[in-house]
Amino acid sequence: IRAALGARSLVLIGLMGAGKSSVGKRLAGALGLPFTDADHEIEVAAGESIQEIFADHGEAYFRDGERKVIARLLTSGPQVLATGGGAFMDSETRNRVAESGLSIWLRAELPVLMKRVRRRSHRPLLATGDARETMKRLMDERYPVYAQADLVVDTKDAPHDTVVGEIVGML
Ligand code: S3P
Repeated sequence: IRAALGARSLVLIGLMGAGKSSVGKRLAGALGLPFTDADHEIEVAAGESIQEIFADHGEAYFRDGERKVIARLLTSGPQVLATGGGAFMDSETRNRVAESGLSIWLRAELPVLMKRVRRRSHRPLLATGDARETMKRLMDERYPVYAQADLVVDTKDAPHDTVVGEIVGML
């Protein structure tokens, strides 16, 4: 699999709570590739938490940083890259991923997502208002775009290792 990927990275996309980071870490381990978490790299680059970036500078500033950080990460060799839920909505990022990566959408249904986002510390989008309504709106907006991914995995409510096995089977 690694040989077939060449210099391309596996890029995990999907909504908050879909399991991108957890599945990503295990997938990287299974393939012997480095794992990178884009949200974490954005925090390192900014010297602030995601929550602070949103609070101090707003979402547009975060999206700018996110675009730049992902562009940089995609040039640094084959890896499994977990992106934040909004990253793939950016057309420049989509083009870059199409050029130097293989995108994998971890598709999940609303109840599963809601169960998994109880920790909202790095999720300012869910911090105010009705989180369930927000998540539904994001599903409507984003699923048609996520559907452009190279691979789609229906995660159901399966354990992360099962999802990893499915992905490895599709590669
Ligand atoms: C966001 C998802 C978050 C984080 C930020 C915005 C989004 O990442 O990037 O809060 O727009 O869906 P996760 O998908 O890892 O929670």
